[in-house]
Amino acid sequence: MDGSDLAPTYITFKGETVQTILVLGGTGKTGRRVVTRLHERDLPVRVGSRSGDPAFDWEDPATWAPALQGVGAVYVSYYPDLAVPGAPEAVGAFARLAVDSGARRLVLLSGRGEEEAQAAERALIDSGADWTILRAAWFDQNFSENYLLEPVLAGHVVLPAGDVAEPFVDADDIADVAVAALTEDGHSGQIYELTGPRLLTFADAVAAIAAASGREIGYTRVSPEDYAGALAAEGVPADVIDLLIYLFTTVLDGRNASLGDGVRRALGRSPRDFADYAREVAATGIWKAADA
Ligand SMILES: NC(=O)c1ccc[n+]([C@@H]2O[C@H](COP(=O)([O-])OP(=O)(O)OC[C@H]3O[C@@H](n4cnc5c(N)ncnc54)[C@H](OP(=O)(O)O)[C@@H]3O)[C@@H](O)[C@H]2O)c1
Repeated sequence: MDGSDLAPTYITFKGETVQTILVLGGTGKTGRRVVTRLHERDLPVRVGSRSGDPAFDWEDPATWAPALQGVGAVYVSYYPDLAVPGAPEAVGAFARLAVDSGARRLVLLSGRGEEEAQAAERALIDSGADWTILRAAWFDQNFSENYLLEPVLAGHVVLPAGDVAEPFVDADDIADVAVAALTEDGHSGQIYELTGPRLLTFADAVAAIAAASGREIGYTRVSPEDYAGALAAEGVPADVIDLLIYLFTTVLDGRNASLGDGVRRALGRSPRDFADYAREVAATGIWKAADA
């Protein structure tokens, strides 16, 4: 589609004209939650992803302009990760196009302690938009909505992660901060370090999930080489293996083993604890073992 038959891009909300908010990754872990919150506020939202209408594909810049039509603010969640080659260039080009298309406010989901992600942050800031950067820790939801769900279900998590602790953050907190930055004044020019309230090792996190779900779930630390070998044997593509090894070695070297104050600064409240996340997910039943 050429974008000409899109739904109206302006609505009147509390007496003011509001432009559409584009949510990239709008079906993913954080974007889905941002979309839900914006819908709850009756704000005009467009999901930006390959399954959106119009489709948005990071790998096909021709899809970017139609998705930006009539858009005033964008939640920018890059896929697969800001650490992959080409991400800063893509984010910079997208941000410039967004500003040229009339968007004023850009909220970027970034990662903590990643030089590559910071190059993407600079590229977005250089677009001249009103920007907010969300530098997020490892998401809690990786254990329930991503690649760590399968080993949890199998009852044994094997990772190249030892004693280094990580302040896992809840995707609901990220979405709350994103919506505040997209819809309220006072967040422009802010870099929010979004973490949970507590440092946990991966073994601690798995133990919390086991306790909440009433199951025995083992945790074994392996070398990065053994982990990469096991992933390759399962047929995981080489670029995904490289990304995971980078995240579990370079990024998980202790540089992020501290708490950030972003949730409190942005929202005036504490972030959600991993144990609360684990209890809530366990209650849904999705961590029940397949043979239970
Ligand atoms: N996971 C973490 O712990 C973590 C921590 C810090 C920062 N981050 C950052 O968060 C961002 C998102 O990562 P995530 O793991 O949370 O993924 P996610 O948002 O759950 O990813 C899935 C989303 O991306 C969309 N998508 C997939 N391929 C796409 C493409 N080629 N073009 C456009 N959209 C595409 C999917 O929709 P369709 O399938 O419809 O396209 C879906 O909406 C990354 O930049 C990552 O660096 C993640």
